[in-house]
Amino acid sequence: MRRQIIMGNWKMNMHRHDGEALAKQLAVSYPKANDNNKDNKNIVICPPFPLLHCVHDVIADSGVILGAQDCHYETSGAFTGDVSPAMLRDASCDYVIIGHSERRQYHRESHDLLKQKIIQAMAQGLQSVYCVGESLNDYRAGKTKDVIAAQLNEALCDINGDNITIAYEPFWAIGSGLTPKPDEVNHIHEYIRAICANLFSDDIVNNMPILYGGSLKPDNVADFAPLLHVDGALVGGASLKYHDFKAIIDAF
Ligand code: PGA
Repeated sequence: MRRQIIMGNWKMNMHRHDGEALAKQLAVSYPKANDNNKDNKNIVICPPFPLLHCVHDVIADSGVILGAQDCHYETSGAFTGDVSPAMLRDASCDYVIIGHSERRQYHRESHDLLKQKIIQAMAQGLQSVYCVGESLNDYRAGKTKDVIAAQLNEALCDINGDNITIAYEPFWAIGSGLTPKPDEVNHIHEYIRAICANLFSDDIVNNMPILYGGSLKPDNVADFAPLLHVDGALVGGASLKYHDFKAIIDAF
């Protein structure tokens, strides 16, 4: 069975005190799996950069894994305000989100830039969660597949697909309370895997998790978690509340 990933993206939320408290609740609920109890579900939290170290201290001996929300494409250098994948590894991150729609929108991140980030993240041993998704206008115009194909083909061509996870997040579903219909999500995930089959080996594509993200909540997760082509979730707002995030984790 493919690995499942339930990832909480805290975005620009949480200070040290509440971040540590939330991480501790999760760490207690999800202890490290021993060999007899190996779980194929990765529970990941992505705090803002300043909280990576203190959150890591809290979850270090648990089954909760650390991720970051973005990275630069160089290892080090004169890039004020940026953080490199090597620094994220040093801070004990295993995952990094790349190409979130808020980065594409507010920081004008291009496919080419995102490709460089993925390559450098991979070189440092990080798992990249590459986000794709269409705007509301594109959705209404029936262009979802075209948009996603371009996002996949342009950023992922000519790279090794090992350590890449895709997150399908329609822009218009993020933080809006709206979602596509479950069968639309299932269909788009199947389509994403078909596009990736032209880019990566069968083995890589068959094992690559594809997550859904956008307004997932405890009261709608049951519509998405059982879908054949959905291998987990990227959760924003609901990942900031322990009970909500736990309900989503446990639904998978
Ligand atoms: P949301 O955000 O769950 O608050 O809609 C999802 C995301 O942006 O990853």
